[in-house]
Amino acid sequence: MREIRTLVVYYSRSGHTRAVAEEIARTLGGAEVEEIRDTVDRAGLRGYWRSFRDAMRKRTTALVNPGRNVGDYDLVVVGGPVWVGAPSSPVRTWLIAHAGELHAVAFFLTHGGSARDRVFGSLAALSGRSPLAVVSVRERELGTPEAGARIAAFADEVRVRMSAAGLRPVKTEKAPVG
Ligand SMILES: Cc1cc2nc3c(=O)[nH]c(=O)nc-3n(C[C@H](O)[C@H](O)[C@H](O)COP(=O)(O)O)c2cc1C
Repeated sequence: MREIRTLVVYYSRSGHTRAVAEEIARTLGGAEVEEIRDTVDRAGLRGYWRSFRDAMRKRTTALVNPGRNVGDYDLVVVGGPVWVGAPSSPVRTWLIAHAGELHAVAFFLTHGGSARDRVFGSLAALSGRSPLAVVSVRERELGTPEAGARIAAFADEVRVRMSAAGLRPVKTEKAPVG
């Protein structure tokens, strides 16, 4: 079995999804991480409403960089926030641009408490792929042991599914003892 190449790709407007992306990358034993960067200024109240409208209208946006060669990775873990019961525009744009290059995928979301399942469905439709595993974290759960346990279970599921496909299991970071 050869080693899995894993890329964690995320968009984060206010930092929640970034924290979860970094934890997922660590838990998967040091996956590479790439942030999706948008050319649109989404800061502050004006940026909030712009993001709200873009998500409602299912608009795409212009991303800053084309990113890495996604096709080089066996597994791409894609994540972002829920916006108005939909994927955020930068994640929508990234998935449309890279759908044809993806092999195995897994998804993660951060959200305020609603529309999670519907958004996972949209991510699958945009990517044209069924995810190996999904995990979501509510804002108020960020950094809690419950969220950490769910992320660990997500990494385990990914590892088992990749292993079943003949790829070396993704390492799962062990919690320090004591
Ligand atoms: C424009 C906008 C719309 C949102 N709509 C929803 C929503 O429909 N449901 C929900 O649970 N949270 C919603 N949220 C909350 C975000 O999903 C949540 O704060 C998320 O953790 C933000 O992630 P980030 O800090 O990585 O950008 C919305 C946030 C924004 C900015």
